[in-house]
Amino acid sequence: MSDKPVIKIGLIGFGVVGQGVLKHFNRNRIPLEARLGASLVIHRVAVRDLKKKRTVQISATQLTDDAMALATDPEIDIVCELMGGTDLAKKLTLAALKEGKIVVSANKALICESGEEIFRAARKNGGHFFFEASVGGGIPIIKVIREGLIANRFKLIYGILNGTCNYILSRMDSERLPLEDILEEARQLGYMEADESLDLDGWDTAHKAVILAFLAHGKWMPLKDVPVTGIRHITLEDIQWADELGYKIKLLGIITRDFKTRRVFVRVRPTLILRKKLLAGVDDAYNAVSLTGDVAGTTVLIGRGAGQDATASAVISDITDAVTALLGVPPPKFSEADMESYEEIGKRSRIASLEEAFGEFYLRLTVLDQPGVLAELTSIMATHCISVASMLQQPAKKENTSNVVLTTHTCNERRIQNAVHDLEAHKHVLEAPLLLHIANFED
Ligand code: NAP
Ligand code: HSE
Repeated sequence: MSDKPVIKIGLIGFGVVGQGVLKHFNRNRIPLEARLGASLVIHRVAVRDLKKKRTVQISATQLTDDAMALATDPEIDIVCELMGGTDLAKKLTLAALKEGKIVVSANKALICESGEEIFRAARKNGGHFFFEASVGGGIPIIKVIREGLIANRFKLIYGILNGTCNYILSRMDSERLPLEDILEEARQLGYMEADESLDLDGWDTAHKAVILAFLAHGKWMPLKDVPVTGIRHITLEDIQWADELGYKIKLLGIITRDFKTRRVFVRVRPTLILRKKLLAGVDDAYNAVSLTGDVAGTTVLIGRGAGQDATASAVISDITDAVTALLGVPPPKFSEADMESYEEIGKRSRIASLEEAFGEFYLRLTVLDQPGVLAELTSIMATHCISVASMLQQPAKKENTSNVVLTTHTCNERRIQNAVHDLEAHKHVLEAPLLLHIANFED
């Protein structure tokens, strides 16, 4: 029997985000427990419809349709509100905080509307309220403002804060499809709010901008004072014309502070950004936040801003912080004292060898320019089972020599290394070959 403390977690909501949390929690439970020194249990999960089919399996005994009973269950230490909406969600959040529990929330609409009251309730009852998943999906933007950039006062924070709108705008741009044709796919991908107007009319971006403004400047901006324009009226022609002018259209949340007047402005609007600028290249459901601080200068964070996995990552990070707060221990970090837990994690990893690695390559060879040389080189490649994808030949500096540039199809790394070794030894290869990887990261 383990003597580790047992922390019980309740999830309210088992839709896109809730199921993502359980899926990744189950996959990562052992290393998380090792790093935290506690046993973690998803004790109960509240849903609206007990009979609904779910992609992530859960035992019927764990499910309840009584969210309030879960929020106030004395056995539960951490309540994750992953349901959405502002009325019942607020009652549940306040009820859980009143019981002294820690609440983890992805609900930016609720935080924007009632953040002040919720934080006060958390403080009053000795609980905590964590909300990393509410802004920027998987980007740890809240930690960055609160901790990493704590030395800064921010004159400008702006960014792409809504994954759905960015997905739509970037596909309108790259595929020249009208907005309506892309909507259904955004729904299927789990990016959209239950109330789609929150995404399309800019309100979700506004909720997030209000939260960022509070974190940076300590003021809750009333939503009614935020000028908000969404993307609903942007046509394919607007996208094309912006392109002809050298721009992309992105929906931005913008927070500025004038240090002299202390005025903070928050606004949301579709904006033309020069195509060569960093944020113009942030496409699909990615979010990006640019923070200009008076100490660090400008920092830009980019990551998946919506969807099941990215959001689950942020919720699990908050659960981890909640556990450390409950146990009164410092958050997990890489230190000597941590080595034991890393040994545990290390048992689940192993170092891969070159034989197990595959990739596409660029290979530059400088060769004697005479009949039959290319055939000999490609035959060496074939001996090592490497298939050539493309080939370029240019005269090299010395007379009767050529630079030959080959790209390969996906091949084994050990084999390409062996091929390069043999090519280098070939009498007509005049210089050491240059082998480069072609990036093909699945991020
Ligand atoms: P969702 O797929 O619609 O899931 C909502 C869940 O809440 C469902 O499981 C639903 O139960 C449950 N629920 C609704 N009313 C309930 C009630 N009265 N009692 C108990 N359970 C109830 O929504 P989601 O996309 O996961 O979003 C959840 C929250 O995360 C929202 O605040 C959203 O803004 C936020 N968020 C979402 C994303 C994203 O990419 N999706 C990213 C960041 C933050 P049934 O399944 O039985 O209907
Ligand atoms: N609907 C939101 C978006 C979910 O598309 O960004 C992530 O907060």
